[in-house]
Amino acid sequence: MTNHADRLVVAAGVDGFGFLVDTRGRLRQAGFGPRIGAHMEGLRGDLPPEAYPLAYPAYDEDPLHAPALRITHGDGRTTTRLLVDDVDVSGSKTVVVLRDRDCPVEVRLCFETGDEGVLRQWVEVTNPQSAAITLHEVASAAPLLVLAEPTLTHHAGSDWSAEWSTTTETLTPGTKVLESRGGVRPHLRCSPFFLLGEGRPAEDGGTVLAGAVAWGGNIRVAFEMDAGAIRVTCGHNPSASDYVLDPGQRFSTPEQVWAWSTEGTGELSRRLHRWIRSAVVRDGGAERPVVANNWEATFFSFDRDRLTGLIDHAADIGAELFLLDDGWFAPEHPRNDDTAGLGDWDVNRVKLPGGLAPVSAHAGARGMRFGLWVEPEMVNPASTTFTAHPEWIVSQPERRPRLVRGQHALDVLRPEVARFVLGVFDRVLTETPGISYLKWDANRHLTEPGSSALAADRQSNFWVDHARATWDLMAEVARRHPEQMLMLCASGGGRFDLGTLRFFHEVWLSDNTDPVDRLHMQWAASHFVPASVVAAHVTRLGNRPVAFGCAVAMSARLGFDIDFAAMSDAERAVCRRAVETYRLVRPLVQQGDLYRLVPPARRAALSYVAPDRSRAVVFAYQLEREPVASGHVVPAGLDPGRTYRVTTTDLSPAALEHWSATGAALVSEGIPWPLCDACTARLWVLDGEDG
Ligand code: GLA
Repeated sequence: MTNHADRLVVAAGVDGFGFLVDTRGRLRQAGFGPRIGAHMEGLRGDLPPEAYPLAYPAYDEDPLHAPALRITHGDGRTTTRLLVDDVDVSGSKTVVVLRDRDCPVEVRLCFETGDEGVLRQWVEVTNPQSAAITLHEVASAAPLLVLAEPTLTHHAGSDWSAEWSTTTETLTPGTKVLESRGGVRPHLRCSPFFLLGEGRPAEDGGTVLAGAVAWGGNIRVAFEMDAGAIRVTCGHNPSASDYVLDPGQRFSTPEQVWAWSTEGTGELSRRLHRWIRSAVVRDGGAERPVVANNWEATFFSFDRDRLTGLIDHAADIGAELFLLDDGWFAPEHPRNDDTAGLGDWDVNRVKLPGGLAPVSAHAGARGMRFGLWVEPEMVNPASTTFTAHPEWIVSQPERRPRLVRGQHALDVLRPEVARFVLGVFDRVLTETPGISYLKWDANRHLTEPGSSALAADRQSNFWVDHARATWDLMAEVARRHPEQMLMLCASGGGRFDLGTLRFFHEVWLSDNTDPVDRLHMQWAASHFVPASVVAAHVTRLGNRPVAFGCAVAMSARLGFDIDFAAMSDAERAVCRRAVETYRLVRPLVQQGDLYRLVPPARRAALSYVAPDRSRAVVFAYQLEREPVASGHVVPAGLDPGRTYRVTTTDLSPAALEHWSATGAALVSEGIPWPLCDACTARLWVLDGEDG
């Protein structure tokens, strides 16, 4: 604890936060983010503590601005007055305890600084009153930022197959709100990740801050700009979500994750990627396999021969895991389209007479692992599960439950439903030996949001409690089946947040696999998450050349979702070379440092560099035709003193060229841009000769 004017209660890190207590005992924000040094300097001036903004304003404490916290107390009072009671600093964790002395309530502002300068922040509210209190709004964080030319980059307003659509806009006075709804797959329409910068964010310079609400449910981030400062109030979406907190109970908000850089978005992303690999995603240091999925090759229409044929082709091109998607289950209500069968997790023995075991064994015999698709939180009305338990679905009394994609969502707050969902995993994994990968899907949002497990006067707890119960199930599956690699999917990228990712290994970014669109999506997502968690599959969508599709997928976690039998020999050979090349560069792509070189427009380029700079791979893409190849792509992050042997490939039969250059020459002169035809790509693999 530092002592300044007897008021500074805590300051953490060079990039971090600082607080002071004013003369009346209220918590003031003295600094936040990359400017904290400057803010703390300000403390040496003559500014009285009251000149600093409230750190976490409760309703009516800052009457002219939106509150971070709004409670109706047991006695009906709607205002809250928070005074500092205690500050507990222990290691990397800081807790500032605030209390309302008249309407007893404890509010703990929790901060934890991690590696790579990442700050996690959340709030815990405890109700010591004798009656229930209602939490109308409880932000995870509400820092006040002062940024020159504040610019927000976000991914709101997208939809299925258009995830990660990027908007960069200047913040102006007033309030800009990003929010998601629907409870399940909320991030289809609004990703919980955003960037705040000074001016347009640049790769290699400038101040930029990344924020992410780590919440698998509805999120809300409000940027209230007033008098040149921006209050960023973020957390779960309080809309229709008043939370009734019983006496003695504690409510914890989702975590808000922050990372900063004063050296641009490139440095910011690299730090976030390292942190996510080491502290968020499961087995972040492990290599991800090359996956072959059958979905876009067969959709629901397959039998054992079709699958074993696909497995043979997949093995021939070098894929390492075969993933059997939707359609393998429901003997009584065969899952031959999306109108029937969800909820019935027995194998359809008409399609697969010997069950899954022969398919799994065939994959094993061809040297591949075996994975399976499940959508455990859902039922179709045409299923034995729904027929037996129509009361199991999310619903409200006397309201006709709507169908979305022909299905209902299960009410996982009911203990018997939670047991059923866990049982799906236990049974499937026991009955079919050899499964080591599961794709966990969820293909509808929630309507008639209510639960018979909640009392009539607790129905508005539903949005939060449903998301928490879903996390509990995911955590339990990860605990019971630690050997299973888990892919997170919800109609494509509908569940993509750093809280849910803790239980998973990777994410299905979008059902849109057109490589041109994918490049834009992968580019946007790369600002926050490492390539190892972004599953990218080569498909026929968009009818692009297979080599181009491979090159785009190779810059993330490579896979295939394509009818190999319908490909030409030449195309299959391209896939084989893509897998061979990917195996060489996989440690770079999945564990290296990302440098985004040319943002996608007519062209795009990016590279991954080994942490010791001994190796690198550069990907160049021509998205739209240009009359001639011109200009250069300039690699970054190389060791200037090292000589690199450069191997060029476009995945055609022979490597096109081998040559050598120093890192210094490469980063100053660049590599001549070789492409002009639309949907062509080139890769350069750089091996340090002395490395
Ligand atoms: C969702 C997923 C797809 C596929 C289908 C199966 O749309 O995003 O990848 O698994 O479901 O029904």
